[in-house]
Amino acid sequence: MKVSVVGTGYVGLVTGACLAEMGNDVLCLDVDPNKIRILEEGGIPIHEPGLDAVVARNVKAGRLAFTTDVARAVAHGTIQFIAVGTPPDEDGSADLQYVLAAARNIGRLMTDYKVVVDKSTVPVGTADKVKAAIADELSKRGSDAKFAVVSNPEFLKEGAAVDDFMKPDRIVVGAEDEQAILLMRALYAPFGRNRDKVLVMDVRSAELTKYAANAMLATRISFMNELALLAETMGADIEHVRLGIGSDPRIGTHFLYAGCGYGGSCFPKDVKALIKTATDEGHDLKVLKAVEAANDHQKTVLVDKIAKRFGADLSGKHFALWGLAFKPNTDDMREATSRVVISELFNRGATVTAYDPVAMEEAKRIFGDEPRLRYAESPMDALKGADALVIVTEWKEFRSPDFDRIKAELKTPVVFDGRNLYEPALVKASGLDYAPIGRAQP
Ligand SMILES: NC(=O)c1ccc[n+]([C@@H]2O[C@H](COP(=O)([O-])OP(=O)(O)OC[C@H]3O[C@@H](n4cnc5c(N)ncnc54)[C@H](O)[C@@H]3O)[C@@H](O)[C@H]2O)c1
Repeated sequence: MKVSVVGTGYVGLVTGACLAEMGNDVLCLDVDPNKIRILEEGGIPIHEPGLDAVVARNVKAGRLAFTTDVARAVAHGTIQFIAVGTPPDEDGSADLQYVLAAARNIGRLMTDYKVVVDKSTVPVGTADKVKAAIADELSKRGSDAKFAVVSNPEFLKEGAAVDDFMKPDRIVVGAEDEQAILLMRALYAPFGRNRDKVLVMDVRSAELTKYAANAMLATRISFMNELALLAETMGADIEHVRLGIGSDPRIGTHFLYAGCGYGGSCFPKDVKALIKTATDEGHDLKVLKAVEAANDHQKTVLVDKIAKRFGADLSGKHFALWGLAFKPNTDDMREATSRVVISELFNRGATVTAYDPVAMEEAKRIFGDEPRLRYAESPMDALKGADALVIVTEWKEFRSPDFDRIKAELKTPVVFDGRNLYEPALVKASGLDYAPIGRAQP
């Protein structure tokens, strides 16, 4: 099938590469010439495990190409995926300007039947706006070219995006047009060889499903984070509680980890956008407002612990920080807890040496020439001259460190662990003080 993907970011590039892997002829478009140049030169503009091999294989086979030429992209695909960003607007709603610009381009240039697929996360009612934008462009030039608009939200996780796309739990297709449904079923058939994964529903339900999924996951995290803080004051251990409730199949063990708050490009903005959509419709989503407030607070918990230990004024103190990315296996730092922790440490007069296996370039882009932030070559390097260690991202390489060396390097032997990576008794046995989230101390 001929497929165009508009927006070659985390979602667009993975979608394009994985569809090409199944034999489709895919052209990925982006407005960012730098991104397209990197891809055309054989590079990958983001860190996503396994993606480079899939991209390289399909470019070589002639099934995957990249362009900044809008007319070429519109002409190429019968199926036109829109996978551009939908960042939060000032009022928290999803900013649809990129989605609608992409839709207008399609309407302005299409000459034959197109299935326009909203893959970006967009509020209920967006497909109608996309439809109206395309229809408006067609009518401006008196064209009667036919098209259908489909909602096909994406559920991949950064860091495991290729696997998630190749082996999806479900593929949500919101559509009314019979021909479009047939094409979408055919496109996704190779991804559901052992069982049909495609759930066809009306467009509005598909749009809401994506927000409902992210809102539920964010709710589980905030729920556990609040209980973790309670466990701390009550002398209980959130890890025992997690296992105790997670073994109930109605609850399950996934997404029940307490930590220093969720970040990333999706949960924070999608929770905000759903609250805003509801407010506009006269609904007050009390649970989600609490989820958001709890998460904002949770991002400050590590620094609260540091201040409790070292005093509110941290002038002259220096901290080692492990993990900048919002989660492991990605270089994405959008809404990352590390940004709140670092800024709060600066506000209190401290300096930081950070280490992250892949996100340090991104941090340099975000923090610029900030003299209070230095970068280390390795986790152990970051400890040199530090008063204490702060762990913000649960990268695998942090999971089994040499605690004796940590103790020897730090001026004060204390580890603030925002991701509960270690058994408290084990850390204590090395003579380190350990401050995890919600765990009982031996
Ligand atoms: N990142 C994730 O894990 C994830 C998961 C599921 C859904 N989503 C959703 O998918 C959408 C895209 O997210 P992302 O993380 O891939 O964003 P991203 O910022 O990585 O990529 C978006 C790309 O679109 C390009 N773009 C913007 N306007 C364009 C236009 N008119 N024509 C062509 N290209 C254009 C940008 O240059 C950018 O490269 C968002 O709605 C997001 O909420 C993201």
